[in-house]
Amino acid sequence: MVHDIEMIRNFYKAYPSKIAKVRSVLNRPLTLAEKIIYVHLFKDEDLKNYERGVDYVNFRPDRVAMQDATAQMALLQFMNAGKEKVAVPSTVHCDHLIQAYQGSKKDLQIANKTNGEVYDFLRDVSSRYNIGFWEPGSGIIHQIVLENYAFPGGMMVGTDSHTPNAGGLGMVAIGVGGADAVDVMTGMEWELKMPKLIGVKLIGKLNGWAAPKDVILKLAGILTVKGGTNAIIEYFGEGTKSLSGTGKGTICNMGAEVGATTSLFPYDDRMGVYLNATNREEVAKLANTVEKDLRPDPEVEADPEKYYDRVIEIDLSQLEPYINGPFTPDAATPISEFAEKVKKNDYPRKMEVGLIGSCTNSSYEDITRAVSVAKQAVNKGIKVASPFIVNPGSEKIRATIERDGMLDVFDKVGATIMANACGPCIGQWKRHTDDPTRKNSIVTSFNRNFAKRADGNPNTHAFVASPELVTALTIAGDLCFNPLTDKLKNDKGELVKLEEPSGYELPPKGFEDGSAGYTAPTGAKKEINVASDSQRLQLLQPFPKWNGGDLVDMPLLIKAKGKCTTDHISMAGPWLRFRGHLENISDNMLMGAINAFNDEANKVWNQLTSTYETVSGTAKQYKAKEISSIVVAEDNYGEGSSREHAAMEPRFLNVKAILAKSFARIHETNLKKQGMLAITFINPADYNKIQEKDKLSIIGLKDFAPNKNLKVVVTHTDGSKDEFEVQHTYNQQQIEWFRAGSALNAR
Ligand code: F3S
Repeated sequence: MVHDIEMIRNFYKAYPSKIAKVRSVLNRPLTLAEKIIYVHLFKDEDLKNYERGVDYVNFRPDRVAMQDATAQMALLQFMNAGKEKVAVPSTVHCDHLIQAYQGSKKDLQIANKTNGEVYDFLRDVSSRYNIGFWEPGSGIIHQIVLENYAFPGGMMVGTDSHTPNAGGLGMVAIGVGGADAVDVMTGMEWELKMPKLIGVKLIGKLNGWAAPKDVILKLAGILTVKGGTNAIIEYFGEGTKSLSGTGKGTICNMGAEVGATTSLFPYDDRMGVYLNATNREEVAKLANTVEKDLRPDPEVEADPEKYYDRVIEIDLSQLEPYINGPFTPDAATPISEFAEKVKKNDYPRKMEVGLIGSCTNSSYEDITRAVSVAKQAVNKGIKVASPFIVNPGSEKIRATIERDGMLDVFDKVGATIMANACGPCIGQWKRHTDDPTRKNSIVTSFNRNFAKRADGNPNTHAFVASPELVTALTIAGDLCFNPLTDKLKNDKGELVKLEEPSGYELPPKGFEDGSAGYTAPTGAKKEINVASDSQRLQLLQPFPKWNGGDLVDMPLLIKAKGKCTTDHISMAGPWLRFRGHLENISDNMLMGAINAFNDEANKVWNQLTSTYETVSGTAKQYKAKEISSIVVAEDNYGEGSSREHAAMEPRFLNVKAILAKSFARIHETNLKKQGMLAITFINPADYNKIQEKDKLSIIGLKDFAPNKNLKVVVTHTDGSKDEFEVQHTYNQQQIEWFRAGSALNAR
């Protein structure tokens, strides 16, 4: 048994009395999110009514999960914290570094070879500090957490933005940077701004081709990529009971795409049966004993507008399948309008590759529904038009679908089964392509579809849909195919229709464990060695503390235009190999960001050489001369993942401040934790005042205080100046981090 039943028993034992205290202090009906987060306050004395969206609150989460690409930096920081072992149950998952190319077996062999040094480091550090270690090939972090660790009413943090996947089992699960994870692992308070609450009422029942994925694809269209920022999305209503536990997980997973702090479903039987099926009968029994407080209070459901900051209603019975994209997950289009959109926007109509699986859609239900569609191609004599790739979410799923004959069906339609890992979802896809300069389309059941995300190719138009719809489109090979209305020609020349998908929520014969790949910690005081000439790993040096003055005449490093996600700031794919080596990975800094002055990526004006150079090359030259620099950006800067490299790289290369129209939550916290200044325009139009060769000063740092604006002075090349105020969200503690040079220095 890998989950910590003792901790969970204690949790449920204390839950009713803690809820009673929360009730007595708040003295009003409670939403589910409030119940869970208030029982996780760091200290009992901290219990009071916190203002949503305003107050910072200290929490004590129950556990931590880290994936291999972010765990390296998290554990390098943890090693500097001087602790003997982690304070809460924690796990490391090797899922991001395996490249998808020739299929599971060969790819895994290659990954073990090429990443051996990193895996050994993670395994040794995990063992030394009492952290559970999931070997390469065991599965993707969020699927493994759902199968083993998530429990209703619990709270966890994970160094990955899709950590909210565990909300499918009623857990408040939040994506954070490594420095935040270190807070929790060292037993310190973990700070978060009290989130706002978006209530999503689900009514009706899904039918036909509509899947849980379509709930979140539709919601992404309503909320947009930043509509959930600093908010928890809490689902409620009768419709929630019609969705499986894993379907709820899919919906929560993709709450990250609207910037939500996390997403959450109330406890119900569907979660209970999933817990039972995954050997956690005792957890289900314990949850049943406190069932009514694993749901919002009845008064909340009766009058949601009064208790949530915003309420959205979705009728599952009316929901159409959606396809979102390209290039952004909130470009939501119902299937009935999609062909029109493809033609109107001249998207490449040929569907070149279909990909299913990932942490988002790897459940038994997902796979059986996709297989029910794939089988029809075999049985009805339809030739599958496009290559098909399957990334199972875990060894448990892979072994179970193998036993149940589904891998055979995939084999018959020519699918390639990749390793139980992220693969193409994180740019770890060595794609076979004839011409990378050709515009092309792919459809995935993953969650994110930013430019270059899957295969590093800016010409790839990536769309996101449910696994069953991806399968249908793969069979047709045509983006304009609508399986609800259209027919396909079979090998006899007849026109045939694909029937609606069907599947099993859980395997009738139970789950197979396969070769699970879990290594328990030994706690042995093993020395951790990092070679000084390693290209993959580098011990961390503390960042210098603030010098006590204003930041004066910093050259503009880049004024980024449009979307600037963490993929633009610190690209994944081939760069994942340097995630444990800050100096090496800093070479990719902001290489995907578009320079507002020339519309090009990785080409910025170097004020020292008066030439155009790469962003990191320019920053390095400034750093060598002890010159600080500044980045200016537009809305939702740092959208996407939790990778703190996107904050540490600029910090390492002497960038002192990011001035943006707005920030994504996790990234803003990461910047603060690493001692950077994250400031925002009060008047977004001031963005237009910044010219390419400007120098910027930030004035007022000696009196840096919560809720007090700072001043920016922009000096143009002709000597003229612009001045305007900028705002920030630093509280007193975060200002101490800035002064100390980082949160870690401030301990
Ligand atoms: Fe991995 Fe993609 Fe999920 S990178 S953790 S499968 S979002």
